[in-house]
Amino acid sequence: MGEALGDWKRTCYCGDLRAEHIGQEVTLMGWVNRRRDLGGLVFIDLRDREGIAQVVFNPEFSPGAHAKAASLRHEYVIAVQGKIVARPAGTENPELKTGLLEVQTRDLKVLSESNPSPFPIDEDTEVAENLRLKYRYLDLRRQKMQKNLILRDRAARAVRNYLQSQGFLEIETPFLTKSTPEGARDYLVPSRVNPGQFYALPQSPQLFKQLLMISGYDRYFQIVKCFRDEDLRADRQPEFTQIDIEMSFIDREDIYAIMEGMMQVLFRDTLGMELTTPFPRLTYNQSMAKYGVDNPDIRFGLEMTEVTDVLKETGFKVFAETIQRGGMAKALKVKGDLSRKELDDLNEFVRETGAKGLAWVRVAPEGWSGPIAKFLSEKERSSLGESLQPDPGDIILFMADSPKIVNEIMGRLRLRIGKQLNLIPEGAFSFVWVTDFPLLEYDDVEGRFTAKHHPFTSPLDEDLPLLRSAPEKVRAKAYDLVLNGSEVGGGSLRIYRREVQSLLFEKLGINPEEAKKKFGFLLEALEFGAPPHGGIAFGFDRLVMLLAGAESIRDVIAFPKTQKATDLLTEAPSPVDGRQLAELSIRVMAPK
Ligand code: AMO
Ligand code: AMP
Repeated sequence: MGEALGDWKRTCYCGDLRAEHIGQEVTLMGWVNRRRDLGGLVFIDLRDREGIAQVVFNPEFSPGAHAKAASLRHEYVIAVQGKIVARPAGTENPELKTGLLEVQTRDLKVLSESNPSPFPIDEDTEVAENLRLKYRYLDLRRQKMQKNLILRDRAARAVRNYLQSQGFLEIETPFLTKSTPEGARDYLVPSRVNPGQFYALPQSPQLFKQLLMISGYDRYFQIVKCFRDEDLRADRQPEFTQIDIEMSFIDREDIYAIMEGMMQVLFRDTLGMELTTPFPRLTYNQSMAKYGVDNPDIRFGLEMTEVTDVLKETGFKVFAETIQRGGMAKALKVKGDLSRKELDDLNEFVRETGAKGLAWVRVAPEGWSGPIAKFLSEKERSSLGESLQPDPGDIILFMADSPKIVNEIMGRLRLRIGKQLNLIPEGAFSFVWVTDFPLLEYDDVEGRFTAKHHPFTSPLDEDLPLLRSAPEKVRAKAYDLVLNGSEVGGGSLRIYRREVQSLLFEKLGINPEEAKKKFGFLLEALEFGAPPHGGIAFGFDRLVMLLAGAESIRDVIAFPKTQKATDLLTEAPSPVDGRQLAELSIRVMAPK
């Protein structure tokens, strides 16, 4: 049983003690991080959010408190009163901010006892994530997690301050809203008062922010939860947070500049780091050509070169045939040597990830060697030499397959080699805007075009005529911001002309009735004076993860979900009462 706090008042945080406090009486409260019994003296490391203070119990100075201190265990919550003194010479701990001081305790209250913790709180040991998530409130006591969440707070503050200084208004939008097609699966919420009908939790506030522009608010932002029922990965959560932004009467350049300013303030206020702007840019096509992906990690080079033309008639039949069937060949020049074993491992890696193989040549002064060298003619060698400019000792890797496979797998191979050869500089942050995304992409499964970003994204003016003749060629006024190979934000200028929106719906195979049923409110709003507008949304969790140098998005979210979208702490989701279901007019089918 814990003691009552009574009239004790905390005077400061444990972690805030400094030399100027010497001689002062303090009252500290916190958790027992560690206890040491040293020949009569008992030492407690007392921990709170701000840090650790050393608390000493001396039997001569205060026998009562000292006797009580014998009962203290890890994670007990206590309050101590005493005097701040300098630690005796030779016992200081320069590693700790409070390491020159200790509290000479006069009085102790044990406010709350604790069961033995299922894992150590006071050290940085590896603990199974399931256990951490089940006891998340204990995990969140650990220093690393506290640092991450405090950083998250700083980041949110920096963003808010900046956006408010730029005239953005923070406006809330509903969570109980309408299910609209396109995008990921919705999380649905049944309506009790409208039996058989459902709200959807928003995948983003996209339509509401556009409506706010039509309403004349000019600059909107929100740090807001979004909900998507999609397959999870290390950098995805079913509910995640966006910094959501929309502006009127702007073009893409305005958006790039304002958002670069936001990133500068964010990095300055959290890491004390100055970012150089403007950020580099790549068009989608350039990014795919050089990196095979639309989220390139440009912290290192190792760029790809397309060699389809050079190898279209090569004696290496696999390649020639693949290219004749409409395939693509790309090469990756690796500076320096890779052992036979390393090359075999890379071959294994690309096969496991879905490619047919990885061919290579080693370039040496005495000539080219490797399994496919003998197939390459003089002419092919000289063209390859011209486009790849290899130095003696370099290795050239080749892959031929459908463009989709070549890009995807060579993209992954590039990252793997970058890590393996330590090409990625420690502590670097490399932003890049990827622009001019295709407006549409063909969905083989559904047999129709779908919007690459979302169906409200504006085509490039000069590509508008192509929308009828060659929809796959139309580029969009859409952009992503990529940081160290992670898509941290994406947005677009929107369609503000009703006729363009209707045409796009037509191309997406959404007929006028369906369009009216699903997005009627937006289409109608577009007829009441819509300003040109556009915006962007950042994945706030992803940004904080990169700022914190965390491995997983879950390490910067207080109460995240597992890969299976469950919450191990509260055990959500869970079955509900038959009565609750009956009220909602819902009957549950036997699970598949
Ligand atoms: P988009 O769908 O690209 O755009 O989302 C914006 C950013 O949100 C992050 N993100 C996620 N983070 C964690 N878990 C997820 N499941 C997840 N899904 C997305 C990414 C992404 O770049 N309304 C548009 C924005 C706009 O056009 O203004 C939108 O939501 O970092
Ligand atoms: P093989 O003639 O099948 O022994 O292949 C010779 C080399 O070419 C091996 O290293 C294979 O991994 C590689 N290879 C085979 N098919 C492809 C392909 N489509 N793209 C790249 N390399 C390939």
